[in-house]
Amino acid sequence: MRKLLLIALTAISTQAIAQVTNDGKMKIFVDALMKKMTLDEKIGQLNLPGAGDITTGQASNSNIAGQIREGKVGGLFNIKSVEKIRDVQRVAVEQSRLKIPLIFGMDVIHGYQTVFPIPLGLSCTWDMQAIERSARIAAIEASADGINWTFSPMVDISRDPRWGRVSEGNGEDPFLASAIAKAMVQGYQGKDLGAANTIMSCVKHYALYGAAEAGRDYNTTDMSRMRMYNDYFPPYKAAVDAGVGSVMASFNEVDGIPATANKWLMTDVLRKQWGFKGFVVTDYTGINEMVDHGLGNLQTVSSLALKAGIDMDMVGEGFLTTLKKSLQEGKVTLAQIDAACRRILEAKYKLGLFADPYRYCNEQRSKTEIFTTAPRNEARKIAAESFVLLKNQANTLPIRKSGTIALIGPLADAKENMPGTWSVAADFSKAIPVLQGLKEVAGDKAKILYAKGSNLVADSTYEKNATMFGKTLHRDQRSNEEMLREALAVANQSDVIVAALGESSEMSGESSSRTELGIPDVQQQLLKELLKTGKPVVLVLFTGRPLTLEWEEKNVPAILNVWFGGSEAGYAVADVLFGDVNPSGKLTATFPRNVGQVPIYYAHKNTGRPLAEGKWFEKFRSNYLDVPNDPLYPFGFGLSYSQFTYSDIKLSAASFRPGQSITASVTLTNNSKVAGKEVVQLYIRDLVGSVTRPVKELKGFEKVELKAGESRTVSFTINAETLKFYNYDLKYVAEPGDFNVFIGGNSRDVKEASFKLQ
Ligand code: BGC
Repeated sequence: MRKLLLIALTAISTQAIAQVTNDGKMKIFVDALMKKMTLDEKIGQLNLPGAGDITTGQASNSNIAGQIREGKVGGLFNIKSVEKIRDVQRVAVEQSRLKIPLIFGMDVIHGYQTVFPIPLGLSCTWDMQAIERSARIAAIEASADGINWTFSPMVDISRDPRWGRVSEGNGEDPFLASAIAKAMVQGYQGKDLGAANTIMSCVKHYALYGAAEAGRDYNTTDMSRMRMYNDYFPPYKAAVDAGVGSVMASFNEVDGIPATANKWLMTDVLRKQWGFKGFVVTDYTGINEMVDHGLGNLQTVSSLALKAGIDMDMVGEGFLTTLKKSLQEGKVTLAQIDAACRRILEAKYKLGLFADPYRYCNEQRSKTEIFTTAPRNEARKIAAESFVLLKNQANTLPIRKSGTIALIGPLADAKENMPGTWSVAADFSKAIPVLQGLKEVAGDKAKILYAKGSNLVADSTYEKNATMFGKTLHRDQRSNEEMLREALAVANQSDVIVAALGESSEMSGESSSRTELGIPDVQQQLLKELLKTGKPVVLVLFTGRPLTLEWEEKNVPAILNVWFGGSEAGYAVADVLFGDVNPSGKLTATFPRNVGQVPIYYAHKNTGRPLAEGKWFEKFRSNYLDVPNDPLYPFGFGLSYSQFTYSDIKLSAASFRPGQSITASVTLTNNSKVAGKEVVQLYIRDLVGSVTRPVKELKGFEKVELKAGESRTVSFTINAETLKFYNYDLKYVAEPGDFNVFIGGNSRDVKEASFKLQ
C-alpha cells in the first residue's frame, strides 16, 4: 500500500515537474518570438478571418494570402480539406516574415464526417463515456483533415425551447451539462494536446447565451448573479476545470454589458476566480456588433473588448484596424496587446505547431481515418442511445420484421437532414435516411413502402428558411391533397405505419427561433389522416428542441423522439423500431404542454404559494387557469421496452457532519422479458436555506444495464460537497439542516427519503 502511494506521489510530482518544465520552455520560446515581433505582427495574431475564397492549389492567390504574408492573420476557420490547409499554412510559414504558423478552427460540433447526434440528443444518452468517445472520434477525424481547434462544446444552459440553439447544448440542467462539458473537453484534447490526433477545444458561448429573452436568438439576457453562479456558469467552469484551451464569448449582454466587453465576466470570473489560462475568442463579428448594442464606434468597442480580456477577434477585424490607433491615443496599453498575443502564441505552442506547422496535415491520415467503419458503427450505437421513447401504448413498439410497413413523412427519406444542424464537415450524400435504414435492417423479411405524404410546412418561404445550407427537403410541387392521397394508398396496404415527421434540421440551431412549437401544419394533418386508417401508427419524431405534443400524446399510440441522430441515424432508427436496440434515452430538457408554460424546468423554486401536488387550479395559488403547471414530459423522462421498478431508498445514516458522507441506495429491478438500460437519477432538495432553494436538483446519475428479471443495488454517495451552492454573497457553501433525497427514473416519478446535515 505504502509502495503504491509512493509510486502515485512520484508519478504526480513527475507530471507536475514536466508541466512546469513545459511551461518554462514555452515561456522562453514565446518571449524570444515576441521580442522579434512588430506591433502590427502582434495585432495580426489577434485576427481570425473566415476562410474566404481559398481553393485547393490556389491558396497563394486568395485574398487572404496577402494578409497572411504580411503577418496580419492568426488563424482561419471552417476550411475543409488537408490539401487546402497545407496550402495556406505554407503561405504563413514560408512567405511571412516571422513564419508563425496559423491555427485552423472549425465548428466540429457533434462529429466531423462521421456525425453523431446533435448535442441535445447526445446529452439524452446520459452516457459520459459514449459522449467522450464521440468527441475523441471527432478529434481524430478533424485532425486527420488539418483541423486543430474546434468551437465546441457548446454548454449554454437553456430553459426555453423557443430558442433554436437548445439543439446545440445539453439541456436545462447544470449538473448534467457540467459532466458533459468535461467529457467533451477530454475527448477533444485527450491527454496530450500536442499529439497529432487531438485538437484544442473551445467552450462556448460564455456566458448566458441560452437565456435570451423570449427565446429570440441574440436577444438580451438579464439575470441575478446567484442564478448565474448556480445554474448557468457551472458547465463553463467545468470545461475550464477540465483544462479547455480556449473560450468563446457570447453575443448577448450580461448585466448590461455585452459579454465581449465584459471585464467582470472575462477577467474577474474567468481568469481570477476560475484560473483560466487559455485564450478567449469572440464569436463571429462579436466586437463589431457592440456598435449596434450601443457601446460606441468600432475603435471604442474594439478597445473595450481587449481591455475586458478578449484575445482574438473573429471575422470583424476591429482589432486589426483600430488597436494601433487606440494604443497611440492611450486607450489601450501595449501590455494588453502583448497579453492577448502571448495567449494565442501559447495555444499554437501547446498544439505543437511551432515544432511542426504541418503536424495536422497528413494526407495519408485524411484518406484512412475519416468516415471509416468502426466510428460509423459507434455513431450508429450512440444515435440509438440518444432516442427517447415518449409513449408506447400496448407495446406498439417494437415492430416486427415482417409483413408490410408503410414509411410516410417528409423526414422519411431525407438524407440531407439526417446529420442535423452544425454539420460543417458532413457529406450529406453518405448519410443514412430512415427509408434506407429500415430497408437494410429488415432485409427481405418485411416489405417497406414509402410516401412523402406532405411537405415540411405549407408555407414555401418558411420551408426555404428552414432548409438552408444544402439541407433541402426537396419541396414537392404537388398539392397537399395529392400527396395525402398517395400516402393513404400506401398506408392502407400496410400492417403498421411509421410516420417520420417533425422539424427539418435547420428549424433549430442558430437563428432558428420559433414561437409555436408544434409539429408543422401539413404534417399534423397528415398524421391525423394516418391515424384515421385505424392501423397502428408509430411517430418517429425529428426535432432539435422540445416540442409541444399534447395532441400527439393523447392520440398517437407510440412516439419515438429521434432528434437528429447524425450520419448513421437511419440505421439507428431501424435498430430501435425493430427492437434490436432497446431505447434508453432520457430527456435533458422539459417538454412543455404549450408555449405559454415556457420557461419551464424541473429545478424551479417553490414560491410562497405553491400549488398542491396533483391539483390543476386553486384561486390565489401559483398556477394557470387553462393548463396544469406540470409539463407534458418531465426532465429525465424516457421509456424503455423493459419495465423497471425501484425499491424504497435506503440511507446508510439519517444524518452526517461536514467531512463525513452517507449513501443512498435503491434496488432496481428489470421486471420484463427484455434486457435494458435505465438511467437512475438522484435529486436533492434543501428544505431550509439562507436563500430560497429549488424543489429538486440533480446530484447524481448512473446508467445501468439489467438483464431480463435482474435486480441490482444502485448507490450514491452524499457528502457536504453534494449540498453546496452559491449563497447570497456568492460563497460556495453547504448549509446545515434538513434535506430530501429522491431517486427515480425521471424527475417526477421518484422515491423519497430525508436526512440531515449537522
Ligand atoms: C456561432 C458560433 C460559431 C461561429 C463560427 C457563430 O455564428 O454563434 O457558435 O462557432 O459562428 O462559425
